[in-house]
Parts: sequence; structure tokens; C-alpha cells
Amino acid sequence: QTVDLELEAIEKGGFEHFMLKEIFEQPRSISDCMRGRLDAQKGRLVLGGLREYLAKLTNADRILIVACGTSWHAGLVAEYFFEEFCRIPVEVEYASEFRYRNPVIREGDVVIAISQSGETADTLAAIELAKSKGAIIFGVCNVVGSSIARATHAGAYTHAGPEIGVASTKAFTAQLTVLNMIALIVAQKKGTITEQKLHELLVEMETIPAKVERALKLNDQIESIAAEFKDARNFIYLGRGYNFPVALEGALKLKEISYIHAEGYPAAEMKHGPIALIDEEMPVVFIATNDSSYEKVVSNIQEVRARKGRVIAIVTEGDKLIPKMAEFVIEVPSVHEALMPMVSVVPLQLLSYHIAVMRGCNVDQPRNLAKSVTVE
Ligand code: G6P
Repeated sequence: QTVDLELEAIEKGGFEHFMLKEIFEQPRSISDCMRGRLDAQKGRLVLGGLREYLAKLTNADRILIVACGTSWHAGLVAEYFFEEFCRIPVEVEYASEFRYRNPVIREGDVVIAISQSGETADTLAAIELAKSKGAIIFGVCNVVGSSIARATHAGAYTHAGPEIGVASTKAFTAQLTVLNMIALIVAQKKGTITEQKLHELLVEMETIPAKVERALKLNDQIESIAAEFKDARNFIYLGRGYNFPVALEGALKLKEISYIHAEGYPAAEMKHGPIALIDEEMPVVFIATNDSSYEKVVSNIQEVRARKGRVIAIVTEGDKLIPKMAEFVIEVPSVHEALMPMVSVVPLQLLSYHIAVMRGCNVDQPRNLAKSVTVE
């Protein structure tokens, strides 16, 4: 027993929980994911596992992304990225819905399946279904040799290392890294991105580990914000554009480990429902970084303030406007908006972690949840 506990302490590398260790590993896991694949200076961008079927992907009429949970959120970010840079229509599907819906799968459709564990039963079944209809399937998995990795025609591993905490953190940012690389390879091949833009994005991708490192320095600040909200019964997370899936992911993280009810919403949809929930007790987390929807998000913040909601805003460093409106402001480094989710999700991971710890929850093994869901 003592030996087991000591072993576990060693595995946690000085961190109190696996989840915190994995959040802090992200600068490393993201660079590991890019190592040997992306080099902006040399203009290098390769994913060995993609080569054989790259033409299929490049000529795809449509991309279908299937996944569950956090991996599904990574898929949603990828939808924005693929559509912007590859000009291929993308649909993101919950694997569990897709598999039972008699979906339309046509020749020319390509499926991307995303799974940390590579063992999720619904995702695996969705793959088998799409395969039986003749689709080509790419996998984005973390666990090498997993069932999904074996069931797909081709793919790329995320190389994030083992993720032990049930709530997914470093796997998510690694999935985004891989999906971005796939999209940029396709965009380059299709000619839907200029060489200059491509170079610019590759350079920015390489800055992500350092920017995540900087976001991790906010840990103490976030811990004190967590203390303020640990007894909340509800939370709303709002974002637009690339940060909309981040809002969903922030809400999911909080639900999973702190058992606080949380909803993620596209900020503009707030007026069609969630705004009715806002009163002086409602914490509203805005992911309001400086991107193309910034002004719109600022008006959404004002709408929440007018109803006395308690605003916690994730903003870009140096933002002058939002600190005047929000009760709490968390500043993350600036980065191209398409890459922001890899940075803006980090404070949300930390916020849910600290709230869960303060509530005495079992952070690494939350009740009723499993790391890999091998039943439907
Ligand atoms: C479970 C885990 C989540 C994960 C989801 C999908 O619900 O608790 O963290 O996002 O499964 O898992 P996958 O391994 O397919 O990414």
C-alpha cells in the first residue's frame, strides 16, 4: 500500500493531482506533438501517417468529424479552422448520434475520428459504420496502437503522453495541434492558403508552447478567483468564433470535476435563452480575446453586466476596455485567433481544477465518469 502511494507520488511529479500535472505539461506536450513535423524556418510541415491518403483529404467534398466529449470540442475548433483555411465544408458529429442516424455518407466524404484513448465505443462504431459505406477514415488518437488507431486507414498521433486524469486537458491541446497541422497541409496542397499566410501561422504555432507557459503563470491568480466562486451553483461560459468551442470545453471541465452545473453557449445565442438565468449571483465566464468578434463579445459582456451578472473575462494581454466592465480579468498572451483555443482553454482548465479542489472533489477520478468509455 505504502509502496503504491509512493509510486503514485513519483508519477505525479510533485503535483497534487494528475490533472494539475497534465495541465502544466502542456507546453511540453504541444512541442512534442510538433517535433519533427513542423519547422517554420525550414518551411517544413509533414505528418508521415497522412501521406498515403493525403489526396483523398485534399479532394474531399466534405469532412465529417466524429468524436465524443472533449475530443468533440476539439473537432468543433477544427471545423472553423478547416473551413477558413481549406475551404472544405465540415460537419462535426457526436459519434453516438451519427452511428444510429443512418447518416448520408457519399463518395468524396472523408471522416476524421478524434479520440484520446482510442477506445471509445461510440466513436469506434461510428468509424465502422462510415467504413462500411466506403469512406476513408483518418484517426487523431493519443494512445498508440489503440482500437481506433487500428481501425482507421491513416492518421496522426497526438503524442501527448499518458493522460491519467479523467478530465482531458493536455490531450485536447495536442488534438488541436495535430488538427491544425493536418488542415495546413491540406490548405497548402489545395492552394487555399498563401505561402506567406502559411509561414505566418507556422511561426505562430511554434510560439504556442511559450504562450501556454505564460498562461500557466496565472495559476495563483486563478486560484484566488476560484475561491471567490467555489460555492456557486451554476456557471455560464460564453465565447464566439474559435472561442465558442472553448466555452463548451470550459463548462464541461467544471461540470466533470466540481459537479457545478455549467453551460457553454455561443455568446450571441445568449439572448435566446440563457440571458434569462442571469442575476447578481450568476458567474459568467467570457472568452473575450482580441479577435474578429471582439466588439460583439464586448456588447455581450455589457448585456450581462446590465443584468448584474458576475463577469470573469479571459482577455488578451493589454486589453484596456474589458477590465472596466468585468469583475475579474485573466490576461492571456496574444496569438492568431485560429490558434487561440490552445491558449485560452488553459485558464479554464485551471479554474475548474481549483474550484474542484476547494470543494473537496476527487479531481482525478470524478464520480460516475470513466477515462475511456468502452460501452455505449
Ligand atoms: C470520456 C472522458 C472524456 C473524453 C471522452 C472521449 O467521457 O472522461 O475526458 O473526452 O470520454 O474520450 P476519447 O478517449 O474518445 O477522447
